[in-house]
Amino acid sequence: MKVLVTGGTGYIGSHTCIQLIKQGHTPVVIDNLCNSKEMVLDRIEQVTGARPAFMQGDIRDSAFLKKVFAEYSIDSVIHFAGLKAVGESVEKPLKYYDNNVSGTLNLVREMQAANVKSLIFSSSATVYGDPASVPIKEDFPTSATNPYGRSKLMVEECLQDFHHANPDWSITLLRYFNPVGAHESGLLGEDPQGTPNNLLPFVAQVAVGRREKLGVFGNDYPTPDGTGVRDYIHVVDLADGHLAALDKMAHQPGTHIFNLGTGQGNSVLEMVHAFEAAAKRSIPYEIKPRRAGDIAECYADPAYAKATLGWTATRDLQTMVKDTWRWQSKNPNGYWD
Ligand code: NAD
Ligand code: UFG
Repeated sequence: MKVLVTGGTGYIGSHTCIQLIKQGHTPVVIDNLCNSKEMVLDRIEQVTGARPAFMQGDIRDSAFLKKVFAEYSIDSVIHFAGLKAVGESVEKPLKYYDNNVSGTLNLVREMQAANVKSLIFSSSATVYGDPASVPIKEDFPTSATNPYGRSKLMVEECLQDFHHANPDWSITLLRYFNPVGAHESGLLGEDPQGTPNNLLPFVAQVAVGRREKLGVFGNDYPTPDGTGVRDYIHVVDLADGHLAALDKMAHQPGTHIFNLGTGQGNSVLEMVHAFEAAAKRSIPYEIKPRRAGDIAECYADPAYAKATLGWTATRDLQTMVKDTWRWQSKNPNGYWD
């Protein structure tokens, strides 16, 4: 299939391009490069031997999208392009609604104009808000605690309304838990700009000497060691989840919703200790107050994805931290080296 990958030079998009190529699909990448570098395409080529077609531009730019759909005969769209920094979204909500919500509506409008009716959307476990219990199933109530989360929820709701009016479309909403890890080659990985918001990139930068120590946000949660518990999933497993969704759902009309997680929860301190073992060095940390908006525990019930897509995450925690460390130690400054 010829698959338009929006945000394809980003962290999850680039790993998905690799898996698409490996399975015989043809990715066409669009990205405005606001949070990634074109060099990622070189790395994809180094790993797969194929360089995806690339057009630089913004999903909010209708003329640009018309050009993309006119140039390539697209079968399906995987839509990663978006902004994802929770803290920034609180400071600049309009930026997030414009980019994530208006951008997606514009993309769907241009898909409709081009008669492309198959869409896979990057949603997030953040749409479950503070869940009443874990593991989380797809039919749990949804809510948002910040503008980023609300932008994901709004898009989910807009797409469901759109599907109601356009029942021949296939729309798949993939709710990611906590993507971590890197490609096993060490050539691709997560490259946050500025201070990392997320745990593992921060730990990796401490390990490589770019930061002095980790702040652990709270050790008084009702969890086994008091630190927050999350469902960390290897980015290549996550990418494979998109491939499974493409194979099974892309031509099945409907709105399909799946959790992409492992079903396993790990605490902040478990992650730190696993990373220390992989990197063979200690990670200095200090306990800090809880971070506003954080929840104690969040992990998936991935049974529906397994039953319906035949997909399940296979890479364990050791592989996640080992691959993160390989990427970080080979590229201490990310793609900027
Ligand atoms: P990323 O920032 O690495 O990738 C997103 C890409 O989209 C970047 O390359 C960026 O340049 C591009 N982009 C942003 N706005 C654009 C626009 N208007 N037009 C064109 N390109 C644009 O992020 P990622 O971690 O790969 O996340 C991909 C998607 O998955 C995002 O939608 C994100 O919200 C969602 N998601 C990520 C996580 C996570 O923890 N990484 C968790 C849940 C959901
Ligand atoms: N944490 C620290 N110190 C840090 C960073 C994080 O102790 O420097 C802790 C957090 O308090 C939390 C855990 O590590 O307990 C994980 O935090 P992350 O920021 O890595 O991830 P979150 O679960 O908060 O959020 C992530 C994404 C969201 C997404 C959500 C669900 O950032 O965008 O996963 O997919 F919505």
